[in-house]
Amino acid sequence: LSDRIDREVLEAAGPDLKVISTMSVGFDHLALEEIKKRGIRVGYTPDVLTDATAELSVALLLSACRRLPEAVEQVKNGGWTTWKPLWMCGYGLSDSTVGIIGLGRIGQAVARRLKPFGVKKFLYTGSGPKPESGAEFEAEFVPLTRLAEESDFVVVTCALTPATQGMCNKDFFTRMKKTSVFVNTSRGSVVNQEDLYNALAHGQIAAAGLDVTTPEPLPTDHPLLSLKNCVILPHIGSATYATRSTMAVLAANNLLAGLRGEAMPHELLL
Ligand code: NDP
Ligand code: DGY
Repeated sequence: LSDRIDREVLEAAGPDLKVISTMSVGFDHLALEEIKKRGIRVGYTPDVLTDATAELSVALLLSACRRLPEAVEQVKNGGWTTWKPLWMCGYGLSDSTVGIIGLGRIGQAVARRLKPFGVKKFLYTGSGPKPESGAEFEAEFVPLTRLAEESDFVVVTCALTPATQGMCNKDFFTRMKKTSVFVNTSRGSVVNQEDLYNALAHGQIAAAGLDVTTPEPLPTDHPLLSLKNCVILPHIGSATYATRSTMAVLAANNLLAGLRGEAMPHELLL
């Protein structure tokens, strides 16, 4: 998914190219208009990675709000001296409000996993209300601004589109509470990273957990890596052995079905 399939690639491939199969559910790296124009079919891997990615999103959220990497570091570097009442304190999920940006497959799976932690209220935003998706969590559809203002935890699980690009920006972070935690497992470009850095560095928000960044890999001297309150993972949302294996088989089957002119197990309808 880090290879952009753009007009240049399509032109180099020429008219023999019939099928593109991506081993990912995200398809923002594919120039869909150009692909459609050429009558090329596209296969992708939805559903099979939902559980693994939701699980990682929860792990990242807990790591950021309970400061796990920082705490582990304290054990290693001798910062752990005596038990102190406020040392290494963070924020918990009990009685919290969780805001989900993009209540799709992964967004719902995250909400399902967070509910038993005692979350009081779920908010979500997207292109419109989805009563059937939100019902299980009694989730309320709200505008992005209200989600920012009221959430104790913001989890970004939307697709990267022109509408979501740079959506989490200075205005968004300024509206968030100083005690709130921001988590992104969608795509790095949904976030304005400079604005996120400023929000974290100046205490406008409490912490962040990112599985996706711009660029990927993030340069090791990137300012975000200097912050204690920012946990960054190398895009491992779907990285369990079982999930990656299932994704690979599905991607291969999509490709073979496409080449044979048959229905694909998961075709992206253009
Ligand atoms: P879905 O298509 O099920 O969900 C995408 C969601 O994005 C939908 O709920 C959609 O809401 C929402 N969305 C679209 N436009 C907007 C908008 N303007 N504002 C807010 N939300 C919006 O996809 P999945 O849940 O399967 O995957 C979501 C994304 O997660 C993928 O596209 C990929 O980028 C990322 N991903 C990352 C992984 C990782 O390793 N970190 C692993 C797997 C996926 P609506 O229906 O209302 O438009
Ligand atoms: C996807 O599938 O879009 C992820 O980013 C990787 O699994």
